[in-house]
Amino acid sequence: MSALGAAAAATSTFPALRAFAQGSPSTTPSSPSAKKLSPLREPVSVPDYELLAHERMSHPAWEYINSGSADEVTLRWNREALTRIRLKPRVMVDVSQVDTRIKLFDQEMPHPILLAPTSTHMLVNPEGEVATARGASAADAVMVISTVSNRAVEDITRASTRPTWFQLYVQDDRALTKDLVLRAQAAGCRALCITVDLPIVYARDREAHLGKEAPQFPYPNLNERHSGTNWRGPGHSQPQV
Ligand SMILES: Cc1cc2nc3c(=O)[nH]c(=O)nc-3n(C[C@H](O)[C@H](O)[C@H](O)COP(=O)(O)O)c2cc1C
Repeated sequence: MSALGAAAAATSTFPALRAFAQGSPSTTPSSPSAKKLSPLREPVSVPDYELLAHERMSHPAWEYINSGSADEVTLRWNREALTRIRLKPRVMVDVSQVDTRIKLFDQEMPHPILLAPTSTHMLVNPEGEVATARGASAADAVMVISTVSNRAVEDITRASTRPTWFQLYVQDDRALTKDLVLRAQAAGCRALCITVDLPIVYARDREAHLGKEAPQFPYPNLNERHSGTNWRGPGHSQPQV
């Protein structure tokens, strides 16, 4: 079953969340425009999956996941920068044995594919990051668990059959921060990624426009519930670094 299929199956057992997670395509005015993937076509590329996600997600979920900060200038620059990367073709080389293995932090990986830390997976699946962990494990990818997950780090690592790493937002409360690092370590996370570019919650215009539409979610790693523009940075009211 595809990840989207799994998400759809899981939401069918949680009617309250299903309504939110699936939303209505007519309430999703932002990009990618009015394009639709033909029902006969299998998704084969990232833009294909983007179209499918847009069709299936609620408006608030789409706005959170698909938006950048403020006027989204940096988001556009990043996309453009990625298109400027050129691959250098090398021909007449032996490709009969291609080896994608890599060793990072003493861990052997079959390929260098990791899931970047992202928060609030209950926006798209009632099981939250536990479902993501199963998907990452099935793809032999390392999941980097976000501090602001909707599931406790212990639940996520229990659902993983592959090594996991933990992403840390250093909190105002340093005792809580230390406790969280120890919890992640005890849960089996093998590396710590410290995010240093979020000293304050920055402008998220598209989320701000959601107003009361923004749902509440649990953040058990921080023992908090948040909604709206707080999704990204519970505990970040003061500069951290
Ligand atoms: C919806 C969303 C949620 C994110 N949540 C987190 C987070 O909780 N912690 C974090 O360190 N980075 C977070 N990020 C940043 C990503 O990990 C990543 O660094 C960023 O998206 C750039 O990578 P990309 O160009 O592949 O999207 C988030 C990004 C997105 C789009």
